[in-house]
Amino acid sequence: MGSVVVVVLWVVMALFCYVVVSEPLQDKQALLDFLSKIPHENRVQWNSSVSVCSWVGVECDANNSFVYSLRLPGVGLVGEIPPNTLSRLSQLRVLSLRSNRLSGQIPQDLSQLKLIRNLYLQNNDFSGVLPTSITELPRLTRLDVSNNKLSGNVPFLLNNLTHLTGLFLEKNNFSGSLPNLHIATLQNFNVSYNNLNGSIPETLGKLFSADSFRGNLDLCGYPLPSCNNSFFPTPTPAPSTIISPPESPFKESHKKLSKPAIIAISVACSLILLVLLLLILFLCLHRRKSAGPAKPPKPVIPRGSAATAGVGDTGTSSSKDDIGAGSAEAERNKLVFLDAGIYSFDLEDLLRASAEVLGKGSVGTSYKAVLEEGTTVVVKRLKDVVVTKREFEVQMEGLGKVKHENIVPLRAFYYSKDEKLLVYDFMPAGSLSALLHGSRGSGRTPLDWDNRMKIALSAARGLAHLHVAGKVVHGNIKASNILLRTDLEACVSDFGLNPLFGTSTPPNRVAGYRAPEVMETRKSTFKSDVYSFGVLLLELLTGKAPNQASLGEEGIDLPRWVQSVVREEWTAEVFDVELMRFQNIEEEMVQLLQIAMACVSTVPDQRPGIQEVVRMIEDMNRAETDDGLRQSSDDPSKGSDGQTPPQGSRTPLSGGLTP
Ligand SMILES: *[C@@H]1O[C@H](CO)[C@@H](O)[C@H](O)[C@H]1NC(C)=O
Ligand SMILES: *[C@@H]1O[C@H](CO)[C@@H](O)[C@H](O)[C@H]1NC(C)=O
Ligand SMILES: *[C@@H]1O[C@H](CO)[C@@H](O)[C@H](O)[C@H]1NC(C)=O
Ligand SMILES: *[C@@H]1O[C@H](CO)[C@@H](O)[C@H](O)[C@H]1NC(C)=O
Ligand SMILES: *[C@@H]1O[C@H](CO)[C@@H](O)[C@H](O)[C@H]1NC(C)=O
Ligand SMILES: *[C@@H]1O[C@H](CO)[C@@H](O)[C@H](O)[C@H]1NC(C)=O
Ligand SMILES: *[C@@H]1O[C@H](CO)[C@@H](O)[C@H](O)[C@H]1NC(C)=O
Repeated sequence: MGSVVVVVLWVVMALFCYVVVSEPLQDKQALLDFLSKIPHENRVQWNSSVSVCSWVGVECDANNSFVYSLRLPGVGLVGEIPPNTLSRLSQLRVLSLRSNRLSGQIPQDLSQLKLIRNLYLQNNDFSGVLPTSITELPRLTRLDVSNNKLSGNVPFLLNNLTHLTGLFLEKNNFSGSLPNLHIATLQNFNVSYNNLNGSIPETLGKLFSADSFRGNLDLCGYPLPSCNNSFFPTPTPAPSTIISPPESPFKESHKKLSKPAIIAISVACSLILLVLLLLILFLCLHRRKSAGPAKPPKPVIPRGSAATAGVGDTGTSSSKDDIGAGSAEAERNKLVFLDAGIYSFDLEDLLRASAEVLGKGSVGTSYKAVLEEGTTVVVKRLKDVVVTKREFEVQMEGLGKVKHENIVPLRAFYYSKDEKLLVYDFMPAGSLSALLHGSRGSGRTPLDWDNRMKIALSAARGLAHLHVAGKVVHGNIKASNILLRTDLEACVSDFGLNPLFGTSTPPNRVAGYRAPEVMETRKSTFKSDVYSFGVLLLELLTGKAPNQASLGEEGIDLPRWVQSVVREEWTAEVFDVELMRFQNIEEEMVQLLQIAMACVSTVPDQRPGIQEVVRMIEDMNRAETDDGLRQSSDDPSKGSDGQTPPQGSRTPLSGGLTP
């Protein structure tokens, strides 16, 4: 229920923002104030007479209702961040000011950015302590303040950042001992090259390698050499002091470098041991990856990866800094969002989500994933994808552009060698298939005629948009791919995936919906979609599933069955018994039946185009709305008999079923 409320709230909020503003003026003013108060080079040229959403470094949400991310890496910003400027970007999710010459304290008022997830301040000259305001950002997932001049303790309150996955404090002047950080989500951690002393807390030591700790004056304990014995390192820990990188500002302090040969030998031994350990670790991970597939999707991403939120830092010149070294692989394999701002989670969040199998199909398995923050999405895990990564990306980016109220939008995708994932919106009301065929007979509320018409029309509109605006063949129209909003408007889902699977997988994989010519050509077309849609209309009319064996005869499909019944002049027999209780709907049912039969013509050229189908269904409805009949319940002068249209007021429509 919670997720339904969240979804509804989202839609209401989104609609509100959409109607009221075309660009976020408050955010714009905040940014103008920021730029006017901070000295900077001429690389940032924001023109206040154009939309803030088109400015360099600024990204808005899909509806241009707020600034979603601000990325100004390496643009020559100098000096302190002016107070009460950036902190007014109340919806900001990503802030990157890395590689500038910012100095002074990290401002306290950043704590007002309650929704911020990624904060990149590295490679500047910030000094002073790490402000506690940073620990009051509940959604922060990546914090990078490396390579500044920060001092003081590493705050224990960092433990309050329960979503943190990456914490980069290296190359500062932090001192004192390391606090015991217990952040379950933490995957990347670095405090190298500071002034820390004392022993490494056990939890951190177990999780991270010596690379995360080296270059501190007096830090000791696993994985660094143990605390009382700095002269003879034990064999297991990594030989941290020996291979410190040349750029270390504290290199001079490691006078232990020149040592007897014995030490060198023991170091060599431990190196070999380390390599062996890594090899074993790698093998274990590899084994674990290939086992246990039926569980929630688990793309194995390397530690040190940066499946950064929605929008990685790709829009900028040198995005690597934000992510830390050695993450080229991760950069290539990250969750790619098709529209910024709708969702703000990353691959790690997705992998942590609780997942429930929604359905298994021939192209893969769908999961309902409930993220920790409460968002619910559908994750489709594809199997047997044959196309290359590039082709996959091109196809998905094309599909991501298709937007219509009757189409379930593709929100994100992920491609790695082992996993191909698609992320869609979750539709809480389920599929037409479940609504039409689920728990028949056992006291269910039958789907009434008005709603069936609504579903037919809205699904046709979605498909028409797909064909005409998107130029996309759906390729798998069936009742379980028609999803419903709570108001029973239909949304078409799972479109355009056939090109991913080569010809070994037949298009329209459910036999009952497959156009006859597709059996030979193995290729779905606009016209074969129309055929499948016709079968869907028949399903709405008859209440029979096309692939069900209860059509009287073995091996007969729904269109042939309807044709045979109609030919025998038993037209009334074809309709769903559940519809029999509604009055004065026969004419409409017959009209829709005619449209459906035109769609399922054996000859593709005889089928109407989907726009034509939309027009025909609309015309059926229009006859009534013009008479004010369908809306009668809203009009007190016409009585208030709710859903059932007034008796005897319908114009009889002529025309039999025979072509
Ligand atoms: C944007 O607006 C559309 C229609 O007004 C709405 O359906 C959608 O949910 C909105 N998206 C966001 C992120 O606000
Ligand atoms: C700002 O944009 C307006 C409208 O596009 C344009 O006329 C003007 O020249 C721009 N100003 C600058 C300084 O680029
Ligand atoms: C951190 O969390 C503790 C409880 O877990 C709470 O008492 C404290 O106020 C929090 N501090 C901040 C700065 O949010
Ligand atoms: C680092 O901090 C110490 C005090 O903890 C101070 O003595 C030292 O000068 C600082 N170093 C730099 C480079 O700021
Ligand atoms: C760590 O250094 C601080 C001064 O920076 C000192 O007060 C403290 O005693 C040291 N702790 C250990 C365990 O050496
Ligand atoms: C931590 O930062 C240092 C300095 O940038 C780098 O050499 C080291 O590889 C980093 N450690 C990890 C685990 O990434
Ligand atoms: C390290 O020193 C502490 C006391 O300073 C002692 O209790 C402990 O046994 C020593 N550990 C080793 C491995 O020598």
